[in-house]
Amino acid sequence: MCNSFMCFGVVSFFWCVFMYFPIIQVFSGNLFGPSYFMDYWVVGFLVLTAGIILRSRLWIRLTKWKTRDEDEEQEKGTKKGMIPKGSLGWPVIGETLAFIACGYSSRPVTFMDKRKSLYGKVFKTNIIGTPIIISTDAEVNKVVLQNHGNTFVPAYPKSITELLGENSILSINGPHQKRLHTIIGAFFRSPHLKERITRDIEASVGLTLDSWAQLPVVHVQDEIKKMTFEILVKLLMSISRGEDLEILKLEFEEFIKGLICIPINFPGTRLYKSLKAKERLIKIVKKVVKERQVATAERKNSPANDAVDVLLRDVSDGASSDKQSQPLDFVSGKIVEMMIPGEETMPTAMTLAVKFLSDNPVALAKLVEENMDVKRRKLESGEEYNWSDYMSLSFTQNVINETLRMANIINGVWRKALKDVEIKGYLIPKGWCVLASFISVHMDEDIYENPYQFDPWRWDRINGSANSNVCFTPFGGGQRLCPGLELSKLEIAIFLHQLVTRYSWTAEEDKIVSFPTVKMKRRLPIRVAPVERTSHIPVEDH
Ligand code: HEM
Repeated sequence: MCNSFMCFGVVSFFWCVFMYFPIIQVFSGNLFGPSYFMDYWVVGFLVLTAGIILRSRLWIRLTKWKTRDEDEEQEKGTKKGMIPKGSLGWPVIGETLAFIACGYSSRPVTFMDKRKSLYGKVFKTNIIGTPIIISTDAEVNKVVLQNHGNTFVPAYPKSITELLGENSILSINGPHQKRLHTIIGAFFRSPHLKERITRDIEASVGLTLDSWAQLPVVHVQDEIKKMTFEILVKLLMSISRGEDLEILKLEFEEFIKGLICIPINFPGTRLYKSLKAKERLIKIVKKVVKERQVATAERKNSPANDAVDVLLRDVSDGASSDKQSQPLDFVSGKIVEMMIPGEETMPTAMTLAVKFLSDNPVALAKLVEENMDVKRRKLESGEEYNWSDYMSLSFTQNVINETLRMANIINGVWRKALKDVEIKGYLIPKGWCVLASFISVHMDEDIYENPYQFDPWRWDRINGSANSNVCFTPFGGGQRLCPGLELSKLEIAIFLHQLVTRYSWTAEEDKIVSFPTVKMKRRLPIRVAPVERTSHIPVEDH
């Protein structure tokens, strides 16, 4: 038995390396060159043939054995709920190909919709050799996100855990995660930061848009990425435009290339190069943290200026001896980890807002009207804008919410159950993965009328605040609710405000791609021209 499982493990390894990763890499356009591709497949084919035969037999034995056990337990009444219905698909590959193919189509939610109509809102499937329960039910998702009693832990691909390390903020659980989440969240919401970061964002957006007006064509996705990285680095460690920022950006780009890759670490591999980039990145951040250590000790009672300040203060009065003995490593590691969640999400949200507005002139006109009103008032009074001015632009916030609902930048979160859990009569067995699918809820026509229509006005018709709506979770929820939520909305609001009050643009034809991450196929080319807006653009009745 043991030997069979060893063999099973080795074959699984080759299966993953030769089969799934090339599939994913081909879809993501990352595979190296064509000749490498051919050699790869010849060797892969031989190993696979042996692998398929052995693994198919084992698969049949395992599934039969598992089903028999489950039936017995169900008969005896020892299990509380029912494992959701569904199909585990083909031996070994399960339903991976259908999952990826739908992900690559213009309607990635089709995979879930089809199974939802066959098996109900929560169903089982098998993706990349792992049995998974997919929830398209907002209430089930809420329970998974709340994670009472630490029943669920994040489940990331191996390349991500290798790169982040086991103590990363994205993978730790329990009291350490809660503490870190609380102090980072409190800092991101603090009035001192709000005031400072509003000025910083305004300055970065202003300079960026000035430069766009000089370019014949602007690829929005690329240009916004530069701007949001600059803002993120300022927020985390107060580094401004200059040489340090450029080096940091280069190393960071090299580092994150490895987040989806073959998880093999030896010289020459993607993972190896990314880990080396991470070492260099940490070295640069450590220098900043070291300089700051002295300054922080001197001005203990003044408010924290950035995330480095916050973490250094926590370390100096923290309970963990681990942190105290290695404060430099701890703080530098956390800063690098915090660069990851905001790096891709922010530019995608802003780019897609430009795309949706380009395609919806009535919504754009209403947005111009609202933002010109506030601009006029500010010019008359001579006051600066503050955080709450932007957050109280109700139609602008509607545009942001509608963009996030349709964009589904994080289309769901993956968790692994640490014990058997029953939710709404469904049993999630210990060791199984759960995908709480946000996209299925956001695009559910029983919840959102005409879900594929960009309709910012719908948020006026929805009762209650978008932030407490269980059917709207672009920032996740519960214990791991994104601490960057308010900051992200502010950043998008400032960007939209300056864009629509100072410029007009025409966008070229482009398409949204959803796999492996959401982006624009042609990076959204637009032509920008400055405008002197003195009067409203007439807004047609909606
Ligand atoms: C539109 C922009 C953004 C979206 C859609 C987004 C979405 C999310 C989601 C869905 C999660 C939960 C992941 C999970 O439950 O496993 C998350 C977590 C997180 N986000 Fe964001 N995020 C955005 C921007 C940002 C920014 C700008 C920052 C920081 C500067 C940030 C920092 C974090 C951190 C640190 C976590 C981990 C929290 C924890 O596990 O305790 N995010 N984000």
